[in-house]
Amino acid sequence: MRSDTYEAGLQIAMKLGIPREVRSEERRVAVAPRTVERLRKLGFDVQVEAGAGAQANCSDAKYIEAGAAIVSAADIWQQCDVVLKVEPPSDTEIASMRQGQILLGMIWPANNEPALARLAAAGVTAIAMDCVPRISRAQKLDVLSALANIAGYRSIIEAAHLFGRFFAGQMTAAGRVEPAKVLVIGGGVAGLSAMTAARGLGAIVRGFDTRLAVKEQVESLGADFLVLNFEESGEGEGGYAKVMSEAFLEAEMKLFAEQAIEVDIIITTAMIPGRDAPVLITAGMVETMKEGSVIVDLAAERGGNCALTVAGEVVEHHGVSIVGYTDLPGRMPGLSSRLYGNAIAAMLEEMGGNEDFDIDLDNEIIRGALVTHGGEVMWPPPKPDDPIIAPDYSKDFGKRPEDAEEEDSALSTAKIPSGLLRSVATGIGAIATVGLLIVIGLWAPASFATHFTVFILACFVGWQVVWSVAPALHTPLMSVTNAISGIIILGGLLHLSDTSAMSAVVLGVIAVFFATINIVGGFLVTRRMLAMFRR
Ligand code: NAI
Repeated sequence: MRSDTYEAGLQIAMKLGIPREVRSEERRVAVAPRTVERLRKLGFDVQVEAGAGAQANCSDAKYIEAGAAIVSAADIWQQCDVVLKVEPPSDTEIASMRQGQILLGMIWPANNEPALARLAAAGVTAIAMDCVPRISRAQKLDVLSALANIAGYRSIIEAAHLFGRFFAGQMTAAGRVEPAKVLVIGGGVAGLSAMTAARGLGAIVRGFDTRLAVKEQVESLGADFLVLNFEESGEGEGGYAKVMSEAFLEAEMKLFAEQAIEVDIIITTAMIPGRDAPVLITAGMVETMKEGSVIVDLAAERGGNCALTVAGEVVEHHGVSIVGYTDLPGRMPGLSSRLYGNAIAAMLEEMGGNEDFDIDLDNEIIRGALVTHGGEVMWPPPKPDDPIIAPDYSKDFGKRPEDAEEEDSALSTAKIPSGLLRSVATGIGAIATVGLLIVIGLWAPASFATHFTVFILACFVGWQVVWSVAPALHTPLMSVTNAISGIIILGGLLHLSDTSAMSAVVLGVIAVFFATINIVGGFLVTRRMLAMFRR
């Protein structure tokens, strides 16, 4: 892969190049100075084009301080082994790349097929950061979530800027100011972030999503989750298939029409992957909003959730401002560059750092993001054998009920083998344990058999407690295990005082030692978690 970085067995640091983004409106840079240090620790030599971070508060001096070299654009494109970018490469940039060079950046392959063909023809290995699979192991590389989080926050800041009132209510000598009411449509990453920011400013926040799973998350942020009344819409109790019908969309829009009269700010983030954004706010609804109200449409790039949205612009209709900015993360360029750069560094780490650098096609993260390699277009990647399926009803929105049913049954069949395997393993384990207990009961002293039975049961209960508890409940579980460890320490101390049997003392010491590790570890983890919430 990196033959030109080796010379007669001598390993040379690969050169990472960070060019200045060509589009003048793009203020971000692929890597901020503080990430340069991390890249250097991974063994890379970092080269930055002069002025690349100027609009993101990343001066050349800061890059030099972090250990990078400031070079010209030509040096980056001609000499670097890996080029790190934010935006998809322009035709001129692709033309200046050479065979075997590696490019990491946002490529949006579904919308950029001609660029893919050109990258492949140039022999470039392109890694699309926007295609990193959304699996838990890849969370730190998930630039879409990192940027949507910023976009959600910024949407509230843009709304606050245009809205002529406080967000929080106030009772002043000069009069009472009622709190702003904010409706957030879509509770994905951007929507939840917008709700958090609006709550932080003191507004009354309402949220809505087609996925009921979002309800708890919305409520945990202190916002109200709006629920549709299907009986009123004539849909009846209905299950999931009915919720996805046209009637649901109608009911949803009826709800928004009622809300439009009441609320001051609407943030829309409703998206269905791979499709145009559904129009949920009509011109008529905008006209019923109070003068001075604001709509921020995050789905502007995909047609918009509001019928009047103009991508990239702020338009006014009947005194209501409709914001269609498509560069919300770029409006906080310093932070965006920092988080984006962290994801880039995590990807380079995943690729083995400088020492073990490899485009490993068996690595699901690398393969998922790899769009061109060895002169070929590698996108879309093959579907993983065992996909991680998150319940996302929005993806089925508008689908025929029978399709959804077919898919459901396919999913449950796919899950059977691993469950069956686990049951068989548990059965074999249980039979072996019972056999062992019978043998011990026949040969060992009665007291040993009693203690051994308690020991086996404790192991079984412990195993069930740890493995069967959902990750969300691991914190309370830690409290339970700490309490159990406390009991173990007491038991161990009792044995330590009994010096008549040396083996009991040794076992007591071991028990106290391990239970202490568990308790101290528990406290350390709790401290770290609390520190995350401290201001
Ligand atoms: P996401 O996919 O995590 O969230 C979208 C949410 O909308 C999902 O929870 C989905 O269930 C919900 N939804 C779909 N159809 C709906 C409907 N009819 N009614 C109510 N809810 C519905 O996406 P994420 O990351 O939160 O981003 C949201 C949007 O913001 C996307 O369109 C994304 O492209 C856009 N975005 C815009 C930026 C900008 O600068 N304007 C920057 C970053 C993201």
